[in-house]
Amino acid sequence: MAEFGLIGLGVMGKSLARNLGRNGFRLAVYNRHLAGVEENVARHFIQFFPELESTLPFDDLEKFVAALERPRKIFLMIKAGAATDEMINTLQALLSPDDVIIDGGNSLYKDTERRTVALAKSGIHFIGTGVSGGEEGALKGPSIMPGGDAQAYQIVQAYLEAIAAKDANGKPCCTHVGAGGAGHFVKMIHNGIEYAEMQLLAELTELLQFHNQLAPDAIADVFAEWGRGESNSYLLEITTDILRKREGDDFLVNKILDQAGNKGTGGWSTSTASELGVPATMIAAALFARYTSAHRGERLQATPMYQNGRNAQGEIIDLNELKTAYHIARVVNHHQGFQMIHEASEHWNWEIKLPEVARIWTNGCIIRSNLMENLVSILQKTNRILQDKEISKIIDNQQFILNKICQAGLKGNLALPCFQAAYQFLMAYSTARSSANIIQAQRDYFGAHTYRRIDDPEGKSHHTKWKDVSDS
Ligand code: 6PG
Repeated sequence: MAEFGLIGLGVMGKSLARNLGRNGFRLAVYNRHLAGVEENVARHFIQFFPELESTLPFDDLEKFVAALERPRKIFLMIKAGAATDEMINTLQALLSPDDVIIDGGNSLYKDTERRTVALAKSGIHFIGTGVSGGEEGALKGPSIMPGGDAQAYQIVQAYLEAIAAKDANGKPCCTHVGAGGAGHFVKMIHNGIEYAEMQLLAELTELLQFHNQLAPDAIADVFAEWGRGESNSYLLEITTDILRKREGDDFLVNKILDQAGNKGTGGWSTSTASELGVPATMIAAALFARYTSAHRGERLQATPMYQNGRNAQGEIIDLNELKTAYHIARVVNHHQGFQMIHEASEHWNWEIKLPEVARIWTNGCIIRSNLMENLVSILQKTNRILQDKEISKIIDNQQFILNKICQAGLKGNLALPCFQAAYQFLMAYSTARSSANIIQAQRDYFGAHTYRRIDDPEGKSHHTKWKDVSDS
């Protein structure tokens, strides 16, 4: 018999199975049988790894379930969406009350809420769980973001915390995030922050290529230097490696098609931002930058149509100033991401602890960084990162540098959506008197939607007859 089961031996599933085996758990693994496509996957898989020598392999789901000790604990690592629903429906008929299904795919938090309710009718616990760190992270220790029923989490806690990455104090980068879909929601925002972090790094390479005329390996040298200090992050490290990669006498990056793909989590983050009324402008900017890049054919057609008067001016950018601008933009990105989690937690009563989310993101996950380490203590003082006293003092003194870098982008006619979004948000966020009075007047003019007055901000709403109808 096995104490823990895993379904889905894809890239992440295999790594997690090996991680569970290495931690000494008696494991059963299942992979579907697809004639001619996926045959004996589980049986072949376990033969390669000593840590799986006592693992039980299956391609028959009923036999897999029967091999699990009660309460059964099953980790689903399969494609989000319909495939997950299909597997859950099949499992529901085979499982018993108090069994636990953990969904480790990048599922939409709304689907997780629905599945939780549906399975509860059979007394089956459902733990929607973010798993971050990619193939290597899943093998060596991912960041794990479980949500759902707190009592159900206790049934699987030992397994998830054993395989998770550890923070600087040796604590697992795994914590019960909150009820229902909270785990998958937090993973979604992790990916949203990730999109903007990735876009900022892409924009840095563009600035350094155009203005400082640096080749990829020279940019890698700059990033390697930054990586030895406060700017270090997993994404900075991998981008440094990426820029150094050669193919023949050229750099591989120069041969990669500039059409960015996505699997949906950035889009979910952006639509959720509009549902919650949170200005996650950097996540949105990064998402739409990917969409614009994906329309390459159209860009090739439009390019020759818009070259007039561009006279792009290159100027050497001070590397320290560029690093400062990068830091400010990252702080804005993290501010917006954590605001999303805070607003969602309030809205759905998930009681998510932001410092704990930052803590489990200090290792194992894609957005791990020195900045994230610092945010753990900052988020204990405020859920609005940009209003932290130390952060605001530093950024207040350096915001002109972000302005300067954005100007360099404009002078170079470079598309820097995330750097520009960071600066625009910082300006809007720190402007006491905005132009929204004009919006309110326009809405009242054509739609009688009313407005409030600055001399009575909490007071009643007003409507003005802007134009005597007889005038028209
Ligand atoms: C992680 C990654 C992982 C996956 C992304 C890719 O946290 O380990 O984010 O979840 O690689 O989903 O997302 P896109 O394909 O949308 O860039």
